[in-house]
Amino acid sequence: MKKRGPSFETQAIRDFGEVLRGRRTINLYLATPVPEELVSSAIEAATWAPNHHVTEPWRFYLLGKTTIASCVELVRDIVTKKKDARAGEFKAKNWAEKPGWLVVTCQKSDDEVRQREDYAACSAAVQNLMLYLWKAGVGSKWTTGDITREDRFFDIVGIDADRETVVGLIWYGYPKLTPAQSRKPLDEVMTKLP
Ligand SMILES: Cc1cc2nc3c(=O)[nH]c(=O)nc-3n(C[C@H](O)[C@H](O)[C@H](O)COP(=O)(O)O)c2cc1C
Repeated sequence: MKKRGPSFETQAIRDFGEVLRGRRTINLYLATPVPEELVSSAIEAATWAPNHHVTEPWRFYLLGKTTIASCVELVRDIVTKKKDARAGEFKAKNWAEKPGWLVVTCQKSDDEVRQREDYAACSAAVQNLMLYLWKAGVGSKWTTGDITREDRFFDIVGIDADRETVVGLIWYGYPKLTPAQSRKPLDEVMTKLP
C-alpha cells in the first residue's frame, strides 16, 4: 500500500487558503481605530518571516497622530508643487483619512546578494503582517509611492538613509470597501517538469 502523508483536505487548510486568497489591498477605511495591541501582535508575527542567515533586517515605525499629520502636509506640498494646490488638497484629504500608518524599512548592506535577500525577507514580513491583520478583520495597503523615497519623509519618520531603505508605507484599518481582484489561472504561471 502506498504511504500517505497527513491529510491536506482539512477545513483548517481550506480556511487558511481563504485568508491568503481573500486578503485585498484596501483603499477606503472606516474611521474605527485598530487596537495597538493587535498591530503589535501583527508586527511580532511579521518577524517570523524567513530570512537568510537570520539577519532580521526589518524595522517597523508605528506612526502617531503628530507624525501622520506631518506626512499629510508633506504629501500636500509634494503634490502641490508637482501639480497644483487643488490636487495637493485632494491628496492630503485622502491620506488624512487613512486610520493606521506603519513604515517598514530594511537595513542596508554593501553586499549586493545580502541586500537582495534582506529585501526579500522584509517583503515576506510585510505579507505576514498583512495576512495577520486580515484574519483579524483589518485591511491594509502597501505603498511605495514617491514619498517613500523623499528625504523629508526620512526626516519626519527618523530613518537614517545611510542605514535603511523604505520597503513600504503600510496603511491599515477596518475596510469600508473590499474590492474584487483576479489572478491568472495556475497553468499560465506554473510549469511542471518531469
Ligand atoms: C511592493 C509593493 C508596492 C506597492 N505599491 C503600491 C502603490 O504605490 N500604490 C498602489 O496603489 N498600490 C500599491 N501596491 C498594491 C498593489 O497595487 C496590489 O497588491 C495589487 O493591485 C493587487 O491587489 P491585491 O493586493 O488586493 O491582491 C503595492 C504592492 C506591493 C507588493
